[in-house]
Amino acid sequence: MSDHASTYFDRKRSASYDRRAARLLGGLYRRVAADVTALAPPGAVVLDVGTGPGRLLHQLAARRADLVLGGVDLSADMVAVADAAAGAWSSRITFQVADVTSLPQPDDSVDLIVSTLSMHEWPDHRRAVAELWRVLRPGGLLLVYDFRFARFEREAFSDFARLRRVPVRLKWWPVALFAGVTAAKH
Ligand SMILES: C[S@@+](CC[C@H](N)C(=O)[O-])C[C@H]1O[C@@H](n2cnc3c(N)ncnc32)[C@H](O)[C@@H]1O
Repeated sequence: MSDHASTYFDRKRSASYDRRAARLLGGLYRRVAADVTALAPPGAVVLDVGTGPGRLLHQLAARRADLVLGGVDLSADMVAVADAAAGAWSSRITFQVADVTSLPQPDDSVDLIVSTLSMHEWPDHRRAVAELWRVLRPGGLLLVYDFRFARFEREAFSDFARLRRVPVRLKWWPVALFAGVTAAKH
């Protein structure tokens, strides 16, 4: 039996999500990649939590050769899709199956954590964010993007410094569909 909680994203849904994401979410990935590359220090260890097919990590690999890139996802099928989609980037990105509440990364080992469109699927935001805090190094940054109207539990982030949540509007979309949370581990 798997150590990981069950997931909606089986092989068929994971492959279908990747096709839709490639078509519809390029603008979001580009925007988030620009934010991450502006903030990540040289040689930063960057972890994408709930990475899905890993398309954001491709953008990061293309923009910054110095970044050490990892992605984790609850779904083993989604990680298989991410591995297959990585193509030329496969030597730059490590994908692992993991629950956000039980990450394989050691304490204080990640410089920047990013997550897109995954938080709304986390059942326990307090436990999830506490685990993100554990693996971030002091001074590390957290960037979490999700649907603007999805549940957002500000208290879950109360240990973090410089917490901000702002609407994210993409170029061609008339309203802000997404919101981005930025915070720092002090
Ligand atoms: C809507 S997809 C978003 C994927 C990708 N980040 C993107 O923006 O295209 C949500 C992803 O979060 C993952 N996920 C859901 N709950 C999770 C958890 N508890 N821990 C890790 N990943 C999780 C799902 O398996 C899925 O791949």
